[in-house]
Amino acid sequence: MSQTLPPIAAARLPALLAALPKAELHMHIEGSLEPEMIFALAARNGVALPYASVDELRRAYAFTDLQSFLDIYYAGASVLRTEQDFHDMGMAYFERAAADQVRRAEIFFDPQTHTARGVPIATVIRGLARACADAQARHGLSAALILCFLRHLSEREAFETLEDALPLREHVIGVGLDSSELGHPPEKFARVFARCRELGFRLVAHAGEEGPPDYIRRALDVLSVERIDHGVQAVHDTALMQRLAAERIPLTVCPLSNQKLRVFPELRDHNLKALLDAGLCATVNSDDPAYFGGYVNDNFQAVFAATGLTAQHAWQLAHNSFEASFAAAADKRRWRQQLDECFERHRT
Ligand code: HPA
Ligand code: ZN
Repeated sequence: MSQTLPPIAAARLPALLAALPKAELHMHIEGSLEPEMIFALAARNGVALPYASVDELRRAYAFTDLQSFLDIYYAGASVLRTEQDFHDMGMAYFERAAADQVRRAEIFFDPQTHTARGVPIATVIRGLARACADAQARHGLSAALILCFLRHLSEREAFETLEDALPLREHVIGVGLDSSELGHPPEKFARVFARCRELGFRLVAHAGEEGPPDYIRRALDVLSVERIDHGVQAVHDTALMQRLAAERIPLTVCPLSNQKLRVFPELRDHNLKALLDAGLCATVNSDDPAYFGGYVNDNFQAVFAATGLTAQHAWQLAHNSFEASFAAAADKRRWRQQLDECFERHRT
């Protein structure tokens, strides 16, 4: 979609990005747990940590690939025990998101990480749902929860998690698929996604982060997902790129995550511009902001500085984020109007 925009000098781009109204659609709430909060919750709950200090924990955040990150991310989540813990984690994220002008956040949570430690799923969902309600009341930030199945576990365990969550389904807008991608293809979860679809959940899945373009195709064809999380490997498949553009299938791209997990050697090598210029509905998101060096606006600033994106790309990314969200049409219209007003305010 091309749009005639007010002229904006390159020097004003950082201020524009900071002020841009946006939706964040790919953020794992357990990945927003800052080291300081990990230590505070460990003390509150009497959990022993294998790190002596916040600094020592932070120094351990040196990743070489997705799995090296996941190991430390699941360990960090072990401090979460009570409904209040989940609420406090959610609110800490929503405060940051509101400051970054996020109007809508659709956040992932990983119930199996917690139920495996004996934390009831109701504790997780009730705490996060209360944080979503508070985000709306305090910040006017519209928030929704997406339950992710861990793909390194079995489909049977995913079905059990779904059953467990159904009494609280009013709080869950959709389901997703995350964790170790390679060796755990989409079709492993075909039946559980079909059931979720029958139940009326919105469907998304991580695909094409480290895995091949064909995992993206199978997530679409076998799981019937509506959005692809990451999806950056699509550039290696011309026919798939054409399909993603023609069908306006959103990709929730996470630049700093891709840099930290070495999906691209350097941020300047990131393919976000190629995805946008090919007409795909790409968006910018933070994935696991406490681990990858920044929240959503940090992702915007870093990828724009590294790859030379323009104000036109900024408008497209924000517009895409609202288009790709599962929010009501009236909300989307209001946020798009705020986007155009933001451009007028930054006119040179
Ligand atoms: N990929 C897969 N699983 C995840 C991620 C990710 O980037 N972040 C948290 N769980
Ligand atoms: Zn992710």
